[in-house]
Parts: sequence; C-alpha cells; structure tokens
Amino acid sequence: MALEIVKYGHPALRHKSAPIQEIDANLRKVVAEMFELMYAANGIGMAANQVAIPLRFFILNLSGEPEEKEEELVFINPVILNRKGTCEGDEGCLSFPGLYGPVKRSGEVIIEAFDLEGQCFEFKLSAKEDDLAVRAVQHETDHLDGVLFIDRLTEAAKRAKQPDIEEHERLFLARQAAGEIEPMDVLKRKLATWPN
Ligand code: NI
Repeated sequence: MALEIVKYGHPALRHKSAPIQEIDANLRKVVAEMFELMYAANGIGMAANQVAIPLRFFILNLSGEPEEKEEELVFINPVILNRKGTCEGDEGCLSFPGLYGPVKRSGEVIIEAFDLEGQCFEFKLSAKEDDLAVRAVQHETDHLDGVLFIDRLTEAAKRAKQPDIEEHERLFLARQAAGEIEPMDVLKRKLATWPN
C-alpha cells in the first residue's frame, strides 16, 4: 500500500515509536517514498509517525528542494544528547496543513543518530548559526515520542490556536465517519502489531 501523510486525529501522531532493529532494503524504500511525499507537500522534514509507521526515524531536507539530494538526511534512532539555552520561532507541521505558531525550543542541541548505511553521526546545532536546523531536529524527534508542536506552543498561541486545532481534529473524525479513513481501533491495532 502506498504511504500517505496522516493528519491530526490519527493515533500514529500520539504513538511512542519503537527503535529500528535493522536497516534493510524495505526501510530504504520507505525513506525514498517519504522524501517524495515530503517534497510534494512542500515540507522540509517528516517523521515516520506521519506516514503511520511506528518506528524511530525521520527525514530532513532543509532546502526543501528535491534537486538538492546532497541536503537529504535520514536520522535513525535519533537521541538528543545535550540541550542548552532557548530559542523561539514559528513552526508548522505537515500533519496540520495551514497551522503555524510560535514554539519555544532549546537553543543548542547535540543530536546523535544512525544513517541509512548504519553509520553513527552527530550534529552540534545552534539557533545562532542555523535556527531552522536546531528547531527541525527537535520538532521531528518529538514526533517519535508522540509529542506535537501544538503541545509546545507558547501559552498565548495555545489559546489563540485552539479553535484551529479542534477544527483539524473534527475534519479527521468526519473523514473517518465517512469511511475514508479506517476506524480508530483498526488504526491503533496496526500501530500496536507493526509490521504484521
Ligand atoms: Ni511535524
């Protein structure tokens, strides 16, 4: 079945994902498909939860340009080792089309992960040098724990955006009630018994 980006209301977005045990051809195929979906949606990053795969990895291409293949990064089993300071800026998410708001994040992080070749790598990122990068890796790592940017909006933005957030959920539930999306228990069972 072809992958698709799931929207707010889908239980995958609240699922705490499991580590990847093996990097294989199937994972490479899924990653390639995720990059295509991400570019088609004009995104710069996407976590596996967002295609209803309950595994700990995310992809990034901060240029957002499909031609810039050298900018493509895959973070497998990422861990944020160190955090320092704070930064604040607007974020959005492919699972919330049209919703943006200010989020407070750590200003500096060290992130460690494995790439598709199984090599361990580490980035030290700072908002002073690259605000987008430091923000993106925190946003995507959060996804793997079922944490969303709406949970981290500033207090004022949380209040202001609440009606929009509820509208996203209403839309999802309406599509589900119409049979366009599988029922909640089916979606949850798939996540719990992945990959079977
Ligand atoms: Ni997101």
